[in-house]
Amino acid sequence: MILVTGGAGFIGANFVLDWLEGSDEPVLNVDKLTYAGNLGTLKSLKDDARHVFARADICDRAAMDELFAKHKPRAVVHFAAESHVDRSIHGPADFVQTNVVGTFTLLEAARTYWNALPEAEKQAFRFLHVSTDEVFGSLSATDPQFSETTPCAPNSPYSATKAGSDHLVRAYHHTYGLPVLTTNCSNNYGPYQFPEKLIPLMIANALAGKPLPVYGDGQNVRDWLYVGDHCAAIREVLAKGKLGETYNVGGWNEKKNLEVVHTLCDLLDQKKPKASGSYRDQIAYVTDRPGHDRRYAIDARKLERELGWKPAETFETGLAKTVQWYLDNQAWADEVASGEYRKWVETNYGQRA
Ligand code: NAD
Ligand code: TYD
Repeated sequence: MILVTGGAGFIGANFVLDWLEGSDEPVLNVDKLTYAGNLGTLKSLKDDARHVFARADICDRAAMDELFAKHKPRAVVHFAAESHVDRSIHGPADFVQTNVVGTFTLLEAARTYWNALPEAEKQAFRFLHVSTDEVFGSLSATDPQFSETTPCAPNSPYSATKAGSDHLVRAYHHTYGLPVLTTNCSNNYGPYQFPEKLIPLMIANALAGKPLPVYGDGQNVRDWLYVGDHCAAIREVLAKGKLGETYNVGGWNEKKNLEVVHTLCDLLDQKKPKASGSYRDQIAYVTDRPGHDRRYAIDARKLERELGWKPAETFETGLAKTVQWYLDNQAWADEVASGEYRKWVETNYGQRA
């Protein structure tokens, strides 16, 4: 089996669902179930013996040792993290704990387990670390895209702690020979994304008749990738990636935030028209994020050249699917937008002019 951490979160859950659709190899899903983890996302697997769920914190060494010893995974795919930049600005401590200390603890547990494996299993073992393009910092409008050799220059507590975890993973390969792989991916979107991130937040607010809060001038650029394409890239890297290497994953979809919000409004105008006017009328410019990175863009040619991966979705097809998914799954969105979420909305947006 494979051990997936953070498999009740947005990308991890999409990965587990996709994995079990394409393979009978079981998944041990290890997740602490923070505000971002939701077992409702995995309810189609409730009676599926191929999915074993363990509620545990990756910072808990004894729990990690026990899970490795009991389930004997052939690989780890490590998604678990605190993942939201705005939350990292309001409360960085959890980010240091989970992203740095948690990844360290998991690496230590994996190393101990791996060292004791028989030679053939030792050779076959993999530790795949899922990371972000935000570790590379911010680009100007004319800079080339991030490649695998771009130096790390993280600017937020989130990206700094992810960079810290990337460095630890690299060091465990270099120092101990642990068979690691790292992926650095651009912004994901798709089904089951928590409505604190741009795309689901805008859809939820639009449908609720609330303002659509665009930070600053709305001209910041992100390179968007449909989550199913990210999951496919991770499967390729896990199967065929070269040990110790990093792979950039991106959608070749650079968009300004305002363009994204306009496209979402236009899709909603078509699919669920308002009684009068357009969803665009709800756009409200608000105070910018402190230290807001201007532009992210990924050069994903290495992954295409070496492993043959290319995104299947364009931004247009992926976004249309995503909007439709949120329209069809409003119960899921309402469930996650409960108590804790409302407190977050007040923390992040209450004080913004
Ligand atoms: P998410 O916040 O939706 O999910 C994170 C999951 O990790 C949740 O289920 C949460 O309960 C779990 N978790 C948090 N702390 C934990 C701990 N201490 N122990 C065990 N589980 C814990 O995040 P996501 O958007 O699905 O991102 C997954 C990974 O992909 C992260 O490592 C993130 O840095 C990376 N990534 C995300 C994006 C993106 O656009 N969302 C892009 C590139 C890379
Ligand atoms: P986000 O989804 O938080 O991802 P990240 O910060 O990791 O790129 O934000 C994407 C972009 O959207 C980012 O430039 C910040 C901007 N943004 C807004 O303009 N308004 C919002 O309410 C949010 C959550 C994000």
